[in-house]
Amino acid sequence: MYRTRTLAADAAGVAAATTLLHAGELVAFPTETVYGLGGNALDAAAVARIFSAKGRPAEDPLIVHVAVVAQLARVTRDLPDVVELLAARFWPGPLTLIVPRSPAVPPAVSAGRDTVAVRIPQHPLAQMLLRAVAIPIAAPSANRFGHTSPTSAQHVLADLDGRIAAVIDGGATPIGIESTVLDLTAPVPTLLRPGGISLEELRKVLGEVALGRRVEQDTAQIAPGLLDRHYAPASAMWLAIGHAAATRAWLAKRAAALRAEGKRVGLLIPDDDQDLATAADLVVTLGPANDPERIASRLYAALREIDAQRPDVILARDLGEEGIARAIRDRLRRAASGNVIEIETR
Ligand code: TXA
Ligand code: MG
Repeated sequence: MYRTRTLAADAAGVAAATTLLHAGELVAFPTETVYGLGGNALDAAAVARIFSAKGRPAEDPLIVHVAVVAQLARVTRDLPDVVELLAARFWPGPLTLIVPRSPAVPPAVSAGRDTVAVRIPQHPLAQMLLRAVAIPIAAPSANRFGHTSPTSAQHVLADLDGRIAAVIDGGATPIGIESTVLDLTAPVPTLLRPGGISLEELRKVLGEVALGRRVEQDTAQIAPGLLDRHYAPASAMWLAIGHAAATRAWLAKRAAALRAEGKRVGLLIPDDDQDLATAADLVVTLGPANDPERIASRLYAALREIDAQRPDVILARDLGEEGIARAIRDRLRRAASGNVIEIETR
């Protein structure tokens, strides 16, 4: 059990974090996406601590963070040429690349695979910290396994207080959902997780980008049990996918039917849908439907907010799949544990 320290977002905080990381301890820190739970990626004991602090199963590999491209040589081998192109366009930033792993990286980081996930974050505090420690830092999102990713130091403490040495409090993270994960070891670059960098942007640089299994699991046909239950609120949750008018109508109808059964219904909706509020017992709004970046930045805080009010059922609608909306859909779909209703309008 630790007395988890909250460190200030300044040079002294970063210096204290650096000392702890050099000693093999764990420090949570802000990135532009979500808070990461950092430990020395080259120290197998520190890596083991990350898995146990999170309660994360050993088969789920970690992302290794570095400050600059030159540091990748320590953790990777045989880097494909396309990394240069992607780095020039998207790093530092919310893109994670899967590439061949250097033997210097303990296999546990990658759950025994011969690949490794690498990312150069752009958040100024993450950059300051990575430059100061000068070692690669393995960092999953700083939440307990299965919980919503943290977008503030308070979220980190809610999950990990007493389980880690410290958290650097850098305020709310700007993007709010995790990085895009792109596998460069597949025959064609493959999107494994939609995130802060859109599929459209990747295709502009790479031409062809394939969709990984998780990304294709977009339909109602997928049995809920096949989806890992990530980002899951305690309440049952349903996500409606389709055109705005059709999904809005579905939300209103479904809410009325559930309330007729005596259920407390919560709506997780864009600001534009305020008129639906009377159909439910409680409403949490996400931001303007035409500003998906803003919705992404608030999404996890909003999920925590609605969950805290413990409705029996949460109903949400998606916002399409263009740009970051694809990542929002992915996270909502996971929050709903695969309870997805596709509303046909064609
Ligand atoms: O934005 C982010 O990516 C945040 C910040 C802290 O950088 N980190 C994050 O880490 O979301 P985590 O551990 O919650 O998610 C890492 C994702 C998982 O879906 C994992 O399966 C995938 O990356 N991943 C990691 N290493 C991999 C590998 N070698 N092959 C395939 N997928 C990998
Ligand atoms: Mg995570």
